[in-house]
Amino acid sequence: VLELSDPRQLYDVCEAERRRGRRVGLVPTMGYLHEGHLSLVRRAHELADYVVLTIFVNPTQFGPGEDLDRYPNDPEGDLAKCLAEGVDCVFSPPPEAVYPDGYQTYVQVEELTRPLCGARRPGHFRGVATVVTKLFNMVGPCVAVFGEKDYQQLQVIRRMAEDLNMPVEVAGSPIVREPDGLAMSSRNAYLSESHRGQATCLRRGLIAVRDRAAEKGGISPEEAVKLCRSVIEAQPDARIDYVEVRDARSLAEIQRVAGDGGAVMALAVFFDKTRLIDNMVL
Ligand code: PAF
Repeated sequence: VLELSDPRQLYDVCEAERRRGRRVGLVPTMGYLHEGHLSLVRRAHELADYVVLTIFVNPTQFGPGEDLDRYPNDPEGDLAKCLAEGVDCVFSPPPEAVYPDGYQTYVQVEELTRPLCGARRPGHFRGVATVVTKLFNMVGPCVAVFGEKDYQQLQVIRRMAEDLNMPVEVAGSPIVREPDGLAMSSRNAYLSESHRGQATCLRRGLIAVRDRAAEKGGISPEEAVKLCRSVIEAQPDARIDYVEVRDARSLAEIQRVAGDGGAVMALAVFFDKTRLIDNMVL
């Protein structure tokens, strides 16, 4: 696996691959790789010939008081996993290579970034859209793969790529879960044993709604939210940030969850300072 940290070198390597007629695939990550990330790599191998995985804990998508300073990292472990998965190139730039002195350009997606995580993490999606744009420009991927766990992020990036005529296919990849249903996340590493046990409530809340909607042939958003909240609130240490049901594409508010794939239930829950997210298309 080729290890690079200089954006210019990365571009040249990817350009050489394209000139050989190879499709370049991008998997952007913030490192501390787990099975979820590796599933993105496998998807990228299906969609591209040359797979670049980037590791960059992007400071512009973290708000004040968030976990930028303590974000977990394991460069050696990450590299070993990339090697095992046949990643062709691992790019991990230092912050100053991405945001040099004098940096002042940002990408803002409007409506889609207002609700859900966008409402609770001001500036988060501006940071995400900006760094993903920069990674697209550094790599020039034919396809880029993002996890569906970050559901809003995936919609934002799809919209951005379309709106800005970016010549890249944005592919989503299903959530990978622990055996007990907890969605895989680097942030799971922060959880105490007790909180790790309680954290299955996110998935259980979503399943309760799915089952109720199937049983009744549809459900109101209010009932869905109430039911999901009750499952989560049964855990002593779960602190709900939000639980919402929205249109699966526009993320606008909706009147009814019909069970036809048109709605998404998304939620964020704190255990202490650790914020977990999950979602389900209903
Ligand atoms: O999903 C992530 O890990 C990050 O938001 C991303 C897409 C790598 C941008 O920093």
